[in-house]
Amino acid sequence: MTMFNNPLSRRSLLVGTAAGVAAVSTFTPTRFAIGQTAKIKIGLMLPYSGTYASLGNNITDAFKLRLAEVGGKLGGREVEFVQLDDESAPPKGKDNAAKLVTKDKVDILVGTVHSGVAMGMAAIAREENVLLVVPNAGAGDITGKMCAPNIFRTSFSNWQPGYACGPVMMKDGKKNVVTMTWNYPAGHEQIGGFKESYTAAGGKIVKEILLDFPKVEFQAYLTEIAALKPDAVFVFFSGDGAVKFIKDYAGAGLKGKIPLYATGFLTDGVLQAVGNDAEGIKNTLHYADSLDNPVNKKFVKAFEAATKRPVDVFAVQGYDTCSLLATGLEAVKGDIKAGATLYSTMRNTIVDSPRGKFTFSASHNPVQDFYVRQVKGGKDVVLGVAVKALADPAKGCSMV
Ligand code: PHB
Repeated sequence: MTMFNNPLSRRSLLVGTAAGVAAVSTFTPTRFAIGQTAKIKIGLMLPYSGTYASLGNNITDAFKLRLAEVGGKLGGREVEFVQLDDESAPPKGKDNAAKLVTKDKVDILVGTVHSGVAMGMAAIAREENVLLVVPNAGAGDITGKMCAPNIFRTSFSNWQPGYACGPVMMKDGKKNVVTMTWNYPAGHEQIGGFKESYTAAGGKIVKEILLDFPKVEFQAYLTEIAALKPDAVFVFFSGDGAVKFIKDYAGAGLKGKIPLYATGFLTDGVLQAVGNDAEGIKNTLHYADSLDNPVNKKFVKAFEAATKRPVDVFAVQGYDTCSLLATGLEAVKGDIKAGATLYSTMRNTIVDSPRGKFTFSASHNPVQDFYVRQVKGGKDVVLGVAVKALADPAKGCSMV
């Protein structure tokens, strides 16, 4: 990379602070010295509209909350945000990420929620060698085939919460199920993880129903499920789509008749909106707002005070993204170009998260506990741990 192409040196010249002007006129600063004077620029590429808008907003607000808690700086440098609404639109994913890197000159990409969009971001992160931290999207490829030293995920792989639910259902004696989800990588992979552990334990999938993302015309399928009479139903839906699904499931008279199981994205962040319709849903997730640890207690209080909204898993993932960046950048005193040192610090960080402490696998995906939860009295109550320290298989990752 030439000096001109180095985003840090260019920015420090353009900012024109007194310190910057003095530095330019009196000596040629090292990259490291320049790095300390410039703000660090973070591209927040998230959904701020559409079915996943609430997820994008919670990730953003919790990231900023954590940043304020660590003193408003990362590695001693102030932070500037460029926020971009990715609309959960995969065809625009690559172009939007490229714009953030080449035009807006962000130092770090943070995003996104939707797996299809996140794969576009990962492609750009690899091409441009920019640090990418994924605060939600679970696409297996991100920490699988597309894994790279500069790509980290603070959330989960889609396989993980699905895989955790199979044994839970078998233990409940549910021997045959209908699955239902959106027809895109997150849907395929969450159902895929579930199928793997469920069928290995002897469970049978009666029917797999797929709808295009983000469609919510569930009615005809629910009628079909009523006729099939499986022991249970297992689904992945999230955001506004989850609200509609839970309401329609109850509205179709299935609640209380055919037990509903899911990855915890179905119920997290939507319980206020769905009220009694969610009662009884069992699910698996790497977080629950009732977890009894001091980090979670402080987080729940601070997030609710700052936003007047309840916390959810998406907020936790945004919060932890900032914690990880704070640790990594502290170790290199804000030098985003420190490469190997920065990445190895991040890789070895034990994140003290509201979900409990977690580590990273060699492919940079969280190794974490998955909880069994059930909605009771309008809350996701933790029934126990489904799988301890679950690691994604990281299929195709060359770093493993
Ligand atoms: C994804 O697209 O990977 C995704 C989206 C929403 C969720 C979970 C996963 O709640």
